[in-house]
Amino acid sequence: MGLELRFSQRLDWEQPPNRLARALAEKRAAGEPVLDLTESNPTRAGFLYETEAILGALARPGSMIYEPQPAGLRRAREAVSAYYAERGLAVGPDRILLTASTSEAYGYLFKLFADPGAVAAAAKPSYPLLDYLADLDGVRLRYYRLRYDGRWHVDFDSLKQALARGARLVLAVTPNNPTGSYLSPEETARMAALCEAHGAALAVDEVFWDYRLEETPAPEIEAGECPVLVLNGLSKILGLPQMKLAWITALGPGHERILSRLEWISDAYLSVATPVQQALGEWLGLRRRFQAQVKVRLRANLGGLEAAVAGTPCDVLRPEGGWYAVLRLPRIRSEEDWALSFLDDGVLVQPGYFFDFEKEAFAVLSLLTPPETFAEGVARIMARVARQAG
Ligand SMILES: Cc1ncc(COP(=O)(O)O)c(C=O)c1O
Repeated sequence: MGLELRFSQRLDWEQPPNRLARALAEKRAAGEPVLDLTESNPTRAGFLYETEAILGALARPGSMIYEPQPAGLRRAREAVSAYYAERGLAVGPDRILLTASTSEAYGYLFKLFADPGAVAAAAKPSYPLLDYLADLDGVRLRYYRLRYDGRWHVDFDSLKQALARGARLVLAVTPNNPTGSYLSPEETARMAALCEAHGAALAVDEVFWDYRLEETPAPEIEAGECPVLVLNGLSKILGLPQMKLAWITALGPGHERILSRLEWISDAYLSVATPVQQALGEWLGLRRRFQAQVKVRLRANLGGLEAAVAGTPCDVLRPEGGWYAVLRLPRIRSEEDWALSFLDDGVLVQPGYFFDFEKEAFAVLSLLTPPETFAEGVARIMARVARQAG
């Protein structure tokens, strides 16, 4: 008799691969080339990294000493504080706790605010990993909607409903993945007031904050009436997801108690490696050069996409920031059928349902894609749309 393993229900994720995944696997197995318009790994997107400086910063003598500190080494937290000072924000190092990733930071916040079975609220459409991260902590997500009328807005009625269902923690991503929309200061203030009224905390993931696509400055997250936990890290700021360093900044009422409890959680893991903490200050000093080349690419790809859709039945739901663009397709077929037909033409996109768009038909394209691949992929997409919808 085989061993009967009884797994936790947190991991009830088994699903047969969808049609798109199957078709992609077949194409790859047959050795057919695919133009990947979903590439979001910055280390594989052809950017120039200052490799010597990045690796050199790890070789500090302090990297050989283990000084376990749950919030992270002070010099690293001071470097994060200096990053905020350059953005014009006064965030002292005592407000900051380091984690190995933003994903880990979400896990800490679920553990801090939600008992198993408790509810947290997240936006739709938004970052699909949030569902899995919530499952891993036994937290149930309820959703509030973002709506588009030329720009994206928080649908406050749905947020109120999620809070009325007991959400202890409200998650927001600004600029959001994949819509590229920043929360406006009015939206943040209103969300904070609603959270305060329901005894909830607000977590704001601003990993894409530095990648503003418009000329006007990006709206900053301010301390609100409720506790506000701001998440950020090196995956996007420096395009270094492999270095595993992120942080939580605690703003607003209760921040001292929040940080001391976050330290209890962090003390159980102590997951941030010392060399990356030692290197952080020097690394953050390199960010402008890295970000400048990324922004050139994001803007060029977005400009090319907008030019390609002009005069077609498609349009681009204009992102204000971040690494993605949402393409609205004619509703003559499903998102999956569109994505499959693009794949027939050798182009991979993410259908909107991966992100839970309210309606059909959308495709999400990564603006990080190398420009030639992006331009050729978009040309094939538009040719297919013209054939199908013409
Ligand atoms: C909204 C959002 N948050 C965070 C991250 C990065 O997470 P991590 O810091 O865990 O690498 C991503 C990466 O795609 C993201 O899209």
